Amino acid sequence: MDKTQEKAKIRICLGSSCYTRGNAENLKIIQAFVEDKQINASIDFRGHLCNENCNKGPVININGVSYEEVQAFQIEKILEETLI
Ligand code: FES
Repeated sequence: MDKTQEKAKIRICLGSSCYTRGNAENLKIIQAFVEDKQINASIDFRGHLCNENCNKGPVININGVSYEEVQAFQIEKILEETLI
């Protein structure tokens, strides 16, 4: 990887509403995806607490773009489109 290249930022809401409504599973899928594609070094992946956006949850933010109501069947496609 080019060291000057910025890492892709993934932020997943781990507040209780997002977590129980899908981000618990989305978290595992993202971790498996990053491992499978061996892109660990180019990803800055962090969780955060509730940011009062629960009615649009589960919420995941990738490189500043918010993805709302993200269900498990959608997450791989989003990752493919944004990270690969
Ligand atoms: S729990 Fe995710 S926005 Fe509130």
